[in-house]
Amino acid sequence: MLSLNALHKSLLRLEPETAHELAIDALRASQAARLPLSLLRRRCVISDRRLEQRIWDRTFPNPVGLAAGFDKNGEVVHGMAAAGFGFLEVGTVTPMPQRGNPKPRVFRHREQQTLRNALGFNNHGARAMAKKLKGQRPYPVPVGINIGKNRNTAADDAALDYQKLVDELDELSDYLVINVSSPNTPGLRDLQRVATVVELLEGCMRRTPRPVLVKLAPDLEDGEAVELAQAVVEAGAAGLVMTNTTIDYSLIPGVEPRGGLSGRVLKKRSFELLRLVAASLGGRGRLISVGGIDSAEEVYARLKNGASLVQIYTALVYQGPFLINRIVGDLLGLMDRD
Ligand code: FNR
Repeated sequence: MLSLNALHKSLLRLEPETAHELAIDALRASQAARLPLSLLRRRCVISDRRLEQRIWDRTFPNPVGLAAGFDKNGEVVHGMAAAGFGFLEVGTVTPMPQRGNPKPRVFRHREQQTLRNALGFNNHGARAMAKKLKGQRPYPVPVGINIGKNRNTAADDAALDYQKLVDELDELSDYLVINVSSPNTPGLRDLQRVATVVELLEGCMRRTPRPVLVKLAPDLEDGEAVELAQAVVEAGAAGLVMTNTTIDYSLIPGVEPRGGLSGRVLKKRSFELLRLVAASLGGRGRLISVGGIDSAEEVYARLKNGASLVQIYTALVYQGPFLINRIVGDLLGLMDRD
C-alpha cells in the first residue's frame, strides 16, 4: 500500500485531468482484478455500528460520501467504496453524451488546497451510465445519481432532460440529485428560481419513488438559498446537497475568472449556508454538506450543525487515497471523546 502513496504523489505532478483519468483507470483495473480491491478494502474500510445511519430506507455505513464529479460515468463504484466512502454520488450525467468545454479545464491552486474546474458536464450519457451501473450491482454502499441537462438543451426544455434521466436511471439509484448549480453549463444556474426548481422537482418526483434532492450553488444570496430550500422541501424533496463550486473569484486574488472553485476556499461559505438552511428547515428534509471538508473535525462540525451526511472531492485529490480511512477513524475518536 506504500506504493499507493507513491502513485498519488506522481499523479499530483501530472496535468490535473490526465491525473484524474489515470486514477479512474487504476480503479477500474483494480475492480477487474479483485485482489487489489480486497487489499484496498482491508486497508481503508472501517466498519463500526456507531457510524451507521438508516436514511431513505438504506443503510449508510458511515456519513462520508464521494461528491459528484469524480465518477462522472458511474464506473468505479466498487473501487471508491473500497477506499472507505460510506456512499457515492455519481454523475453529473446528461441524457446524451457530451464532451464538455475545451481543455485545459481543470486547474490546481495547491497553496490554497483548491481546484478550479470548467469541465462542463463531460460524460458518456445516460445509456452508458445505466450499463455501467447495472454491471456493478449489488452496490457495496448507497449510490446517488446526480443529473443535469445537456448543454444544447434550451432552458424551456430543461424539464424534459431531467425527466428522461429519471426514467432511464432511477431504478439504479438510491437517491437522485437535480443539479442546477454547476457554473460551467451556460444558463444552468438560472434554473435556481423557486418556481422553476419546484417544477423540475415535481416533474421528476412524479416519475420515481426514489428520494429526490436538489444541489445548490454557494453563490446564492442567503435569503435566496433559504427560500429555495424551504420551497423544495415543502414540495416534497428529500433534501438538499450544499454546495456546488463557487464563482467568487475574489477568494483567490488574480485567478483567471473561469470555472468553479472547490476545496479550502469554499469551506467557510459552505458551512455558513449549512447553518442557515438547517435553521430555516428545522429538521425537515436531509442536508448533505459538501465544500472544503478535509478532516474529521470538519465532518463532525457539519454533522453537529444540521448535516445528515457529508461529501468530499478536492481534499481527496490533495491528500490521497487514505484520507477517508483517516477521517472515519478520527471521527470515531471524536465520538468517543464526547
Ligand atoms: C465537481 N463538482 C461537481 N458537482 C456536480 O454536482 N456535478 C459535477 O459533475 C461536478 N464535477 C466536478 C468536477 C471537479 C473536478 C470538481 C473539483 C468538482 C462539485 C463537487 O461535487 C463539490 O460540490 C465541490 O467540489 C465542493 O466539494 P469539495 O471539492 O470542496 O470537497
